[in-house]
Amino acid sequence: MILPERAAHGRNSEPTCFLLIKSYVPLTAILRFNLFLNTRMKKVDVVLGLQWGDEGKGKVVDVLTPAYQVIARFQGGPNAGHSLHFEGKKYVLHTIPSGIFREGSINIIGNGVVIDPVILSEEIAKLEKDGVDVQGKLLISKKAHLILPTHRIIDAASEASKGKTKIGSTLKGIGPTYMDKTGRNGLRVGDIVSGEFEERYGRLKEKHIELLKQYDFPYDICDYEKEWLAGIENLKRFRFIDSEHVVNSLLQEGKAILAEGAQGSMLDIDFGTYPFVTSSNTLCAGVCTGLGVAPSRIGNVYGIFKAYCTRVGSGPFPTELFDEDGEKMRQIGQEFGATTGRPRRCGWLDMVALKYSVMMNGVTELIMMKADVLNDFDTLKVAVAYNVNGKETSEFPYEASEKIVPVYKEFKGWNCDINKLRRYDEFPAELKNYIEFIEQETGVPVKIVSVGPDREETIVR
Ligand code: GDP
Ligand code: IMO
Ligand code: MG
Repeated sequence: MILPERAAHGRNSEPTCFLLIKSYVPLTAILRFNLFLNTRMKKVDVVLGLQWGDEGKGKVVDVLTPAYQVIARFQGGPNAGHSLHFEGKKYVLHTIPSGIFREGSINIIGNGVVIDPVILSEEIAKLEKDGVDVQGKLLISKKAHLILPTHRIIDAASEASKGKTKIGSTLKGIGPTYMDKTGRNGLRVGDIVSGEFEERYGRLKEKHIELLKQYDFPYDICDYEKEWLAGIENLKRFRFIDSEHVVNSLLQEGKAILAEGAQGSMLDIDFGTYPFVTSSNTLCAGVCTGLGVAPSRIGNVYGIFKAYCTRVGSGPFPTELFDEDGEKMRQIGQEFGATTGRPRRCGWLDMVALKYSVMMNGVTELIMMKADVLNDFDTLKVAVAYNVNGKETSEFPYEASEKIVPVYKEFKGWNCDINKLRRYDEFPAELKNYIEFIEQETGVPVKIVSVGPDREETIVR
């Protein structure tokens, strides 16, 4: 393979591999050399949820952070609620990366995230009250979009107008903000210090007020707007960065970076259970666009799932339980939204959806959460296929409607308390069997098993 000369490119600017090609070095040697270069260059590892959110991403990021210097959020916004438990305390983070508690960590809110200055300021104030040096550890992308008070109102008005078909949004203004981003109307963090901020804010607000006339929805933005403007002022003391340059420079310097997903793969705007989804790409691909990282710079993909399933808000949930088993999961697992407090819908593990998510994300390692919630079940069920209109399939279908009847495989429960266990070889045979079945089905190893909310209640295999 000999590439033609390109007059426009000076020889000095050509990549090494082109120079090697011109010297007629065998192709296999070139490939080996490029592989060597690639493996020396650091990559971004990714933690993301494989179900409908709330898998335990906050806990896992917190557990993994000692191995990373940089933690970066790449999508979503304050619709997320990531819980962390340590030293007898519980924290819930909405916009700030879950690495913020670790000494010396750099925490980046990437360009793909949408920010509500009120919620972010409240989050910062709580952490600062507890002695966390947020200002020293948090960097915010100039390209991250701002959630305006009117975005929240449009979200609420739009949901109210949908009646029974509502999405069950967290009503944080996520959808309308991403709409303005793709509609090329949005306001970004970098605009805060542009000198024209107030004018641009006023113009977008007016546009929203016009839009709201089509809804019969009473609202008053005065109080929230005051807090919002104060929040904007507060953000000015943080470092606004060109995050794509910073992230890539940190990679060049050999820093270990962990990207923290929000929501879950089944809520992805393209591949989730549309329209009952969020408005961003929650999948691994979102790391590339939400941080400015090239696909070849993605390293390990840690896919997190609960040993069962939950979903909050509306939309298809094939393995949902409406009986006492579902209620038992909710009570033992404390399945109530970390952002809205809403009860989460609960059901059996769905292998069809899990395999779909593993495929879409290129998951390299699985992390199973909340195994302890199933301690007290005699029999466990896992959906291994769906029956749709009399036809069995193991592929997640275009329309995941109520027509789906899950085909279950039963497992004997472990029926004992696993919270105190700290080694895999101490696990009961039934739990090992459950985990090994998941590994077999997905073809991906389960590297971490979580047996309780605390940092300590984590078994790394
Ligand atoms: P995230 O949004 O993915 O970070 O998850 P959430 O924080 O919204 O929800 C997970 C909930 O489960 C939180 O309350 C965690 O403290 C809790 N949790 C995490 N891992 C475990 C576990 O292994 N066992 C139990 N019982 N609770 C867990
Ligand atoms: P974390 O990061 C669970 C759900 C909402 C709703 C749909 C759209 O904590 O896992 P939106 O507010 O984006 O307009 O809501 O998505 N949803 C979540 N469910 N965990 C989350 O985040 C979620 N973020 C949004 O309930 O059904
Ligand atoms: Mg959550």
